[in-house]
Amino acid sequence: MTTGTIMIPHSRPSIAQDEIDAVTDVLQSGHLAQGVVVERFERGMAAYLGLAGGVAVNSGTMALEVALRVLGVGPGDEVLLPSYVCAAPWQAVQRVGAQARLVDIEPDTFQIDADLARAAITSRTRAIIVPHLFGLPADLTALARLGVPLIEDCAQTLGATEQGRAVGSVGTLTVCSFYANKLLCAGEGGMVLSRDPELLERARALREYDGALSLNPQATNLKMTDVQAAIGFAQLNRLPELLTRRASVARQYREALAGTSATVPAVPSGRSHVYYRFVVRISRRGVGSDELNNCIGRLERAGVQCRKPVFRSLHRYLGLEGFPASEAAEDNALSIPLYPGLADGEVAQIIMAMRDEWRRE
Ligand SMILES: Cc1ncc(COP(=O)(O)O)c(C=O)c1O
Repeated sequence: MTTGTIMIPHSRPSIAQDEIDAVTDVLQSGHLAQGVVVERFERGMAAYLGLAGGVAVNSGTMALEVALRVLGVGPGDEVLLPSYVCAAPWQAVQRVGAQARLVDIEPDTFQIDADLARAAITSRTRAIIVPHLFGLPADLTALARLGVPLIEDCAQTLGATEQGRAVGSVGTLTVCSFYANKLLCAGEGGMVLSRDPELLERARALREYDGALSLNPQATNLKMTDVQAAIGFAQLNRLPELLTRRASVARQYREALAGTSATVPAVPSGRSHVYYRFVVRISRRGVGSDELNNCIGRLERAGVQCRKPVFRSLHRYLGLEGFPASEAAEDNALSIPLYPGLADGEVAQIIMAMRDEWRRE
């Protein structure tokens, strides 16, 4: 990095006075554990998505596990999920004892490919985990037609629409993550939401060890605290403002990259993008992991910390073949810092570094 250049981190939470005040109120209330603030956050999230209710838990990963258990998924069952995603969905499937069947992604959008999902369905398929990656909805219309319960994984996307419907409002169950770098953060945390009160009741029974007439070996302590919920609820109220700022920065990046060799994020018609991540495709000749790492290094020297948006595709961990779109994404996708807390000067620095990098071809 050139002397005097300040490194812009890839992610940074956007915390305002509202969150600080909300946490202070909880700390002064004398009640820190799961309580009325968690309930308020659950009602707020459900209202935001137009669903019957939500069950807050301690992470998005555990929300996925709870969702699978709620659907009765277990040994002998299969669950479809994309290969190009973080390890959390695969781990949730392992933990309930089911078999994960990986599906490749749409080449342009990074989202699970509905046609390939259809081809992977067997008589044992019980659910499809549909992560909406980077802020763009998956093709919910095509996926919903497959006749298999969908678990919408909204860890990376809230507030986007597909054919006019909000992501998170279509699947049998929806899960969220409120990890520190998410669109709506609480430090850590997750939620399972649904339009079906009976499914919500089953989820609620899994997050506490006590409170039932019989012992439930699947239940455990997955509770969120009121401190986390206070941050989450304040962020939910600010979500429209946070998404507006993201959209504005994304617009500036798209304009700045026009005419360069980088490909900006695809937004198919009928889908909107909320830019949890701004993921470009680099197209330098001989592109591959080495070139991507070189590119990350050059941008870092210009004070811009970029990341591969998915650390490693699941099929690569598992030694499987036949996932060309996931492999291409691993080799050419690069996530540029984009979050509401970026100052205008930082946006200008990022734009300059990107134009410099991709004008070089
Ligand atoms: C798509 C997706 N699903 C699930 C998770 C897991 O969420 P958490 O980190 O809250 O366990 C993540 C990561 O945050 C994610 O990006």
